[in-house]
Amino acid sequence: MISILKDKKIVIGVTGSIACYKVVDLASKLTQAGALVDVILTEAAQQFVTPLTFRSVTGRPAFTDMWALDEHVRHVGLGESADLLIVAPATAHTMAKLAHGLADNLLTVTALAARCPILIAPAMDGGMYENPATQENVKTLKSRGFHFAGPTTGRMASGLSGLGRMLEPAELFAQVRLAIAKQTGELVGKKVVVTAGPTREALDPVRFISNRSTGKQGFAVAQAALDAGADVTLIHGPVSLQVPMGATAVPVTTTHEMAEATISAVEDIDALFMVAAVADFRPETKSDQKIKKTDQQWGMAIALEKTLDILSSVKTKREKTGSPKVVLGFAAETQDAFTYGRSKLLRKGLNFIAVNDVTAQGGGFEVDTNRIILLSSAGVVDEMPLLSKTAVAERLVHHVAQALGS
Ligand code: CTP
Repeated sequence: MISILKDKKIVIGVTGSIACYKVVDLASKLTQAGALVDVILTEAAQQFVTPLTFRSVTGRPAFTDMWALDEHVRHVGLGESADLLIVAPATAHTMAKLAHGLADNLLTVTALAARCPILIAPAMDGGMYENPATQENVKTLKSRGFHFAGPTTGRMASGLSGLGRMLEPAELFAQVRLAIAKQTGELVGKKVVVTAGPTREALDPVRFISNRSTGKQGFAVAQAALDAGADVTLIHGPVSLQVPMGATAVPVTTTHEMAEATISAVEDIDALFMVAAVADFRPETKSDQKIKKTDQQWGMAIALEKTLDILSSVKTKREKTGSPKVVLGFAAETQDAFTYGRSKLLRKGLNFIAVNDVTAQGGGFEVDTNRIILLSSAGVVDEMPLLSKTAVAERLVHHVAQALGS
């Protein structure tokens, strides 16, 4: 279940392309995420896939016939009450009809009557997409506020390769999620920067000092901010996670790189979520070559120096510019979490600190859950039970949105 998709009414208009089979998967994914998915198939679409296929994955009737008793009236209503209409796959022919306001089947009638945003996922072979007639229609539709997802370049059913391949279901799913977020989210129109993951400090070309952060909590915060409709920049250290679609990713390695990226990204933004587990120390010297074993058996030492405290630099900058308006930090603690957390909040000039006892059962690094106490200078804001990192992220984003007055 995905919170922002729960009970959202999504109409999928399916037109006649072999890419239909992928849209069955999209309908299934959206249904599993909690959306109410109604499908309309054109006659050509039914050459490739049946209404029963969609009914089976959505648990709701799939519609085909404009002339069936009541259907016309009902589906003008369907378009009016939907949160989003996605036409996928959208053939050149249907796009031409939509551009010219034709209403000769249930899908085009619904599209013409729709009050919600319409997302078009084109799918066509050969040079059809690049044909000036199609391009003119795309331009017209975009100028009237239709949104486009794809197409992309790749192999097409004919065996040709070119521009016209429909996006994959997972990508379309992410586009639907973004489109819904931009309508209803608490952070629509807000700019947010999230840092995530560890940083690494090299000893030599093959060894480094780092920590156990996997980036899961930071990436979940980035996704939650996207779900709230924000423009999100995600500055992240080395992790093996997929960047949420819609976020602008800035990959970095060292604390110094993260500091530079963060300080330049917070120029004119609403909120900074500093979730990264930043390396606090780095070797005083980095060897250009791999350090070799010597005969020395004991007493080997690495001289360390402190790295820059990114939040303290942000604080100095913020005092001059007023940006970010709200700053949330994390405190990873192994003892006296509350006391240390509170002193970091004050020292680093934060609005909120998410105190995280990384030794608590189910919380901290390398797990999917976390136990967080959110503090402000006024005291405890939210003492969370053990929650998934996704749920923690949603709650943090909500508190920040409230502080921004959203
Ligand atoms: N942080 C930072 N720059 C650093 C280290 C940490 O901006 N060089 C940020 C973290 O991203 C986090 C907050 O400061 O949001 C607290 O990080 P934490 O590691 O808990 O605290 P430290 O300041 O490093 O203090 P200590 O290591 O003494 O606990």
